[in-house]
Amino acid sequence: MRLQAALFVAACVSPAAAIYPDEVNQIDFHHALLGAPSFDSTFFLKPSSASNASLLYTISENSILGAINPRDGALVWRHNISRPAGGAGLLRGLDGNNAVVGAAGDYISSWGAQDGKLIWETQFDGGSVADIELLEMEDATAASGVRDTIALIAGKSFGTVRRFDGDSGAVKWEYIDDSGDVPFQVSSSPTEIFYISLQSGLLKSSKVKITSLDPVTGQQVRQHILNTEGDITGPESVLFVGANSASPLIAWTDKSQKTLKVNVIGTKRVSSVTIDNTSGEEIQEITVHAPHKLSSLPHFLVHYKTESGAWAEVYHVDLKSAVVSKAYHLPYLQGQSVIATSNIDANVYFTRISDLEAVVVSSASHGILGRWDMDAPSSDRSVAAVTEVVSKGKSVAVRSVILRKSGDWQLIRNGQVEWTRPESLIDAVAATWAEVEEQEELAHELEVEGHESLLGAYIHRVKRHARDLQHLPQWLQELPQRIISSILADEVTNLDSFGVSKPVIVATNSGRVYSLDTGRQGAVIWSTQAAEKPWDVKNIYARAGVVTIDSGDGSSVVVNASTGAIVSRSAQQGPKLQSIVNFEGHDGSSPVRLGLLGVQEDGSPVAPFDDITGFLVTTSADGRVLGWVESDNKTPVWEFVPPSGQKIVKATARPAHDPVASIGKVLGNRSVLYKYLNSNLVLVTAVNEKEHVAGFYLLDGVSGKVLHSISQAGVDPLQPIASVVSENWFAYSFFGDVVGDSSAKGYQLAVSELFESSIPNDRGPLDAAGNYSSLHRTGNSLPLPHVVSQSFMIAEPISHMAVTQTRQGITTRQLLCTLSSSNSIVAIPRPVLDPRRPVDRDPTSAEAEEGLFRYVPFLDFDGRWYLTHSRDVTGIKNVLSRPTLLESTSLILAYGGDVFGTRATPSQAFDVLGKSFSKLQLVLTVVALAIGVAFLAPITRKKQVNMLWRAT
Ligand SMILES: *[C@@H]1O[C@H](CO)[C@@H](O)[C@H](O)[C@H]1NC(C)=O
Ligand SMILES: *[C@@H]1O[C@H](CO)[C@@H](O)[C@H](O)[C@H]1NC(C)=O
Ligand SMILES: *[C@@H]1O[C@H](CO)[C@@H](O)[C@H](O)[C@H]1NC(C)=O
Ligand SMILES: *[C@@H]1O[C@H](CO)[C@@H](O)[C@H](O)[C@H]1NC(C)=O
Ligand SMILES: *[C@@H]1O[C@H](CO)[C@@H](O)[C@H](O)[C@H]1NC(C)=O
Repeated sequence: MRLQAALFVAACVSPAAAIYPDEVNQIDFHHALLGAPSFDSTFFLKPSSASNASLLYTISENSILGAINPRDGALVWRHNISRPAGGAGLLRGLDGNNAVVGAAGDYISSWGAQDGKLIWETQFDGGSVADIELLEMEDATAASGVRDTIALIAGKSFGTVRRFDGDSGAVKWEYIDDSGDVPFQVSSSPTEIFYISLQSGLLKSSKVKITSLDPVTGQQVRQHILNTEGDITGPESVLFVGANSASPLIAWTDKSQKTLKVNVIGTKRVSSVTIDNTSGEEIQEITVHAPHKLSSLPHFLVHYKTESGAWAEVYHVDLKSAVVSKAYHLPYLQGQSVIATSNIDANVYFTRISDLEAVVVSSASHGILGRWDMDAPSSDRSVAAVTEVVSKGKSVAVRSVILRKSGDWQLIRNGQVEWTRPESLIDAVAATWAEVEEQEELAHELEVEGHESLLGAYIHRVKRHARDLQHLPQWLQELPQRIISSILADEVTNLDSFGVSKPVIVATNSGRVYSLDTGRQGAVIWSTQAAEKPWDVKNIYARAGVVTIDSGDGSSVVVNASTGAIVSRSAQQGPKLQSIVNFEGHDGSSPVRLGLLGVQEDGSPVAPFDDITGFLVTTSADGRVLGWVESDNKTPVWEFVPPSGQKIVKATARPAHDPVASIGKVLGNRSVLYKYLNSNLVLVTAVNEKEHVAGFYLLDGVSGKVLHSISQAGVDPLQPIASVVSENWFAYSFFGDVVGDSSAKGYQLAVSELFESSIPNDRGPLDAAGNYSSLHRTGNSLPLPHVVSQSFMIAEPISHMAVTQTRQGITTRQLLCTLSSSNSIVAIPRPVLDPRRPVDRDPTSAEAEEGLFRYVPFLDFDGRWYLTHSRDVTGIKNVLSRPTLLESTSLILAYGGDVFGTRATPSQAFDVLGKSFSKLQLVLTVVALAIGVAFLAPITRKKQVNMLWRAT
C-alpha cells in the first residue's frame, strides 16, 4: 500500500501558491468594461486595409474609448481619456484609416485602430471640444495615409476650427470665430470644410450660419445664413448635421412638427417636406439617418417614433439642384424599433430592428433584401443600433449592435443574440454573494432541533429524514452516472457544493441589479431595473433566496435572488442618511442579520436600538467619531475629536466575520506571546492638510479610549491613504516621509501587531482576571496593548485594503491591496508583513523555526501575489472577501469600475484534491494490487509451508 500512499501525498502537495495558467477563467472572471456607449460615436470599422475583419469602436459616457471584437464581444484595447473638466466624449474613424481619433473635454488624441497605441495627443487651455471629424478627402501631402482631423473647440465667447496633422497632431491651420455665435458642428464635402454656428436672433430663436473654409489654408471662402428663425431655438432643435457625406445635410422641423426642412450644406436652398402624420398619435422623436462616407449615394432616412410605434421615410437628394424628394416609406410598426445605416461601396443600406424582426432594405428601392425573426424582445428598451451589412450574391447578411437604455449592448447576427456586454456594471456601488434558499432551510431545521427537548428533537429529526426519503429513488438513479463521471471527469473536484461558486449580486448607481454566475466566467444570470438613476445604495444584504437593497433616502427594494423579480418595495421615508448599519452576526459561514439602523449626516442614529445588544461607532459630518449605546440616540456616550487641524478621512473596524483560531503566537522556543484580542477595535485616520501630517488612532469602540496612536509627517493628502484592521493587527499605507530620514519620501505600507504583553508567557494585567469590561472598570482600567510595528517602502500607491476571510480563521490571512496605478490586486501573505522580522541581522534558529526571516525595508511585490495576474483590472473602488465551507478557500470580489472575482487559497488548497489527482489511476492501482495479492498469496503460503517442512 506504500505506492498508493505515495500517490496520495504527491497529489496533495503543490509546489507554490499562485494562480496556475489552467485556473485562469476557471476560478476567476473579469468584466473589462467601457461604460454605456454613446451611440453617435459607436461604429464598425476595418482597422487596416489589409484585412476584411472589422472591429467595433466606441467611446462611453465615462469617456473610455475602446475596440471590441465583434465575434465574441471581447475587449481588444481601451483607454480612459476622462478629464476633470468633463464633457461628452467623441470618437471618429474611417475605413482603411489606421487611426481613430477621440476627444473629451479639453483633450484630443489619436490611437492606432488595430493595437490601440497612442499616435498623438494634444490638450488646450480654455474651451472644450464640440465636434471632430476626420477629413476623408484625398490629400497628396499625407504620406502614411493617416487622415487629418478637423476639430471645433468651443470656448466661452469664441469658436475655433483647427486642422490637425494625421501623423503628428501638429496644427496645420486655425480659424477663429469671435462673433459671439454658439459653435455647433463641423462638416465636410469633397471640396470644402463647413463650420456651422448658431447666431442668436430675436425671441430666443437662432439662425444657422454656415462658413465655408478652404481645406488647405483654413481661409474663409464664403458665409451665408439660413433663415430658420422661429424653428430653431438652440442646438437641441437641429435634428441632424451630416458629416463626411457626398451631400452633407442639415435637417430640422418647424415648431409644430408639421414640415421637415432640409438644407444641403453649402447651398442656400431649404427644401420643405410635409410630415405624414397618419399614426393618430403624437410624434415623440424624429431622427435622421444618413451614411457617413463621401462616396456614398446621397440618400437619407427619417425615423418617426410615437408612444406605441414607429415608421420611416426614405428621401433622395438631387446633387445638381439640391432638391430633396421622397423615395419610399417603411410602414408603421407597433413596438420599439431602431434604424441603422451602413454602406457597401456607394450603396446605402438601412436596417430596421423591431421587437419581432430585423429587415434590411437598400436606400434605392423598398425591396426587402433580408429579414430575420428576432429572439424574445427584451424589457430593456433599445435606443439605437449600429450595423454592418455584407452582401452575399443577391442577398445580404447583417450584424447589428443594439444599444439599450441601461447602457448594455448586444450583438445580434441574423436575429440571434451573439453576445451581451453588461456595461452598466461599471457604476457598481454595492455587491454581495447571494444566499441559496435550501441551505438556509437546513440551517433553520438544525436550529429548531438544537432548541427542542431531546425527545422533540429526535422526533423532528426522524420526520426530516423520512421526508428526505422521497428523493431516494432519484438519488439512486443518478448514482451510477455520478460515480462514473467522478472517476472519468477531468475535473476531479466539483466544489460548487462547498459554496465556492455562489452567484454575485451587484447593484449599480444607474439603478440596475445584476446577478453574475461566478462558476461561468461571471456571465449575467439576470439583470433588472430596480430603481432610478442615481441610486444612492447604502446597504445590500442577501438571505434565503432574496436580496434587500437599502438606499440613502430610506427606501428599499427586495429582489428574488434566483430570478431577479422584484418581491417588494418600500417607499422613501425619514431624513437623508449618511449610512445604514447592518447589525450582523455570523452563523458558521452565513451571515445573520440582527437589525438595521440608519445613521444621519450628523452621525446620530435615527432611532434607539433597544432590541439589539451592542454599541455603535459613527463619524459625523463635522469630523468627530461618536460612540453610542442601545437606549440613547441623542447624546453619544463618548466622542473622539482629533487634534486641531486634523480632519477625519476614514474609520475602519474589524470585519463582522473575523474568527481567531489561536489566542497566542507560539515562538520558536515554545513560549507564547498572547495576542491582544479586542473585537471592538476602531482605526481612525485623520489628516492635517496644511501641515501634511496624518494621524492613525486605534480606539476601543466601547469606551472610546485611544489604545495607540501614530503620527506620520510629510504626508501627501492627495494620495490615497488606505487602512485595515483584522484579528490583532492593523495596516495602513500612505505617501510620506521615510521614518528616520525626512529628506526621502515614498509610498509606505505600515503594519502593527498588538500583544497583551511584551514578555512571552505573560498575559499582562489581565492575567488573573476571569473576564473584563471596557465600560465598567473595576479597579484597573482597560490595559493598553504592547504594539510591535514595522513599515515597508512600496513602489506604488495602494488605493484600497481588505483581508481574506476564511471559515475558521486557521488559514493564514492575506492583505488584499488594490494597486490603482498598475490596475491590479495583490494578496500579500501575512507572514511577509510580520512586524517581528529581525532587523539588520539574520534570524536565530528559533526565529527561523517560527517562520521569521530578515527584514528588508523595500517590499517588492512578488509576481505570485498578483490575484489578477496579467489582467488589467481598472477603476476598482472596493474589494470584498467572504469565507466558503472550505477552510482553505476565500472568495474575493472587486468592483467599482471593472468587476473581478476570484478565489484565494492563502495556505494552498489543503482540503481539496488537486487537478493532477487521478481517481481512475487510484482505482486501477487498487485493482492491480488486489489481483497481485490474490495471485501471490497462495504461492507465498505454499513457500512458507515448504520452509516449515524443511526446517524440521
Ligand atoms: C476582402 O473581401 C473582398 C470581397 O468581399 C475580397 O475580394 C478580398 O480578397 C478580401 N480581402 C481579404 C484580405 O480577405
Ligand atoms: C399628429 O397627429 C396626432 C393625432 O392625430 C396629434 O395629436 C399630433 O399633434 C399631430 N402632430 C404631431 C407633430 O404629433
Ligand atoms: C424566487 O423565484 C423562484 C422561481 O420563481 C421561486 O421558486 C422562489 O420561491 C422565489 N423566492 C422568493 C423568496 O420569493
Ligand atoms: C523565547 O524567545 C524569546 C525571544 O524570541 C525570548 O524573549 C524569551 O525570553 C524566550 N523564552 C524562554 C523561556 O527562553
Ligand atoms: C477614468 O479616469 C478618471 C480620472 O482620470 C477616474 O476618475 C475614473 O475612475 C477612471 N475610470 C475608470 C473606469 O477607471
